[in-house]
Amino acid sequence: MPFPRGIVCMPEQHSEFPVTRSFHSPASSPATCCPKDVLRPELLDWSSYHVPDSSGMVKLDAMENPYSLPAELQREMGTILARAPINRYPDAGCTALKSRLRDYLSVPNGCEILLGNGSDEIIQILCMAVARPGATIMGVEPSFVMYRVSAAAAGATYVSVPLTDDFQLDLQQMLEVMRNRRPALVFLAFPNNPTGNLFRRADVMQILDAAPGLVVIDEAYHAFARQSLMSELVSRPNLLIMRTLSKLGLAGLRLGMVVGRSAWIAEFDKLRLPYNVNVLSQLAADFVLSHVDLLERQAEQLLLERQCIIDALQGTPGVQVFPSDANFVTFRVADACAVFDGLKQRQVLIKNLHLAHPMLRNCLRVTIGTPAENRMFLHALNELDWIRENVHVG
Ligand SMILES: Cc1ncc(COP(=O)(O)O)c(C=O)c1O
Repeated sequence: MPFPRGIVCMPEQHSEFPVTRSFHSPASSPATCCPKDVLRPELLDWSSYHVPDSSGMVKLDAMENPYSLPAELQREMGTILARAPINRYPDAGCTALKSRLRDYLSVPNGCEILLGNGSDEIIQILCMAVARPGATIMGVEPSFVMYRVSAAAAGATYVSVPLTDDFQLDLQQMLEVMRNRRPALVFLAFPNNPTGNLFRRADVMQILDAAPGLVVIDEAYHAFARQSLMSELVSRPNLLIMRTLSKLGLAGLRLGMVVGRSAWIAEFDKLRLPYNVNVLSQLAADFVLSHVDLLERQAEQLLLERQCIIDALQGTPGVQVFPSDANFVTFRVADACAVFDGLKQRQVLIKNLHLAHPMLRNCLRVTIGTPAENRMFLHALNELDWIRENVHVG
């Protein structure tokens, strides 16, 4: 990769690594050099991605699949992983895994797959790819937080259009923003996180028709929504489909992907770090996907459980439940912080969305767990009657 403009490489240094020096070197000396003298100023105001401690808790906060592999498959996978050539770099092209994924995802001819360390990395690559000076990336709000974070990290401007009160796309507003701001990239999570719903397909199509640049349909929750725009890739050159194996039961492997026309994927691939998918993840994913019917049965079970949770929440006084096409349910109570804390004291960890966005005031998000975990959640919630008493939701 060539050095960016403005950087001088000094190969005459007696060091294994070339030393690089910026034309605009900081004023401080090495002894006083500190983050604010050197780093991008906006970075100092950002926070790291926070993952709460969940040890000893019923963990229903991160949209993971609660089921592990049956013991026999665990043993089989153990044997395969034990033989993995971990002394070598992994297959940089992920050939075997990609070929299995092509079938599993029904990737149309003329399209390719780019694999990432989770779809988080794919989002980052896409943002870096479009971040020409002055570039705009567009999304909706509330939605998945990493679109905004990665757009900002890439130096692009992120604009977002609020959803309507029923968490659908505000089509007129979005079309107007697209006309005025000409976004290079639009992110739409389908279904959306953290609201849980699918957007109306006809609205999504209109966004695709009107977008001046790329549209990424993030189908992270495809296993639970069973709707996809994958087949639209054939007729829509500006469409990219993003998927992840995280919600299907392989969150620990960190494997996300984007599917698109080959010409796009070839360009994005230039920004992918070499060997970004390690050998153990490649082998484990390839093995588990050879038993994909098992993951699909687990997803079926979670859909049944989702309905049980929705029914129970709907029957709980003081709770407003939003429709879900994903493996989580978002709901509103009178005091989300009190309910969140009360559940936590009872060793149940869900997600408090109260401060995430004004439209999510007093909202909480619970991931669907095993039947036993879901019962523990509902039981703990019912113990909190005193928190909800006589207070109107809203
Ligand atoms: C809509 C959406 N996209 C992408 C991701 C990231 O998934 P991954 O684990 O593949 O990085 C998430 C994670 O919660 C998500 O909700």
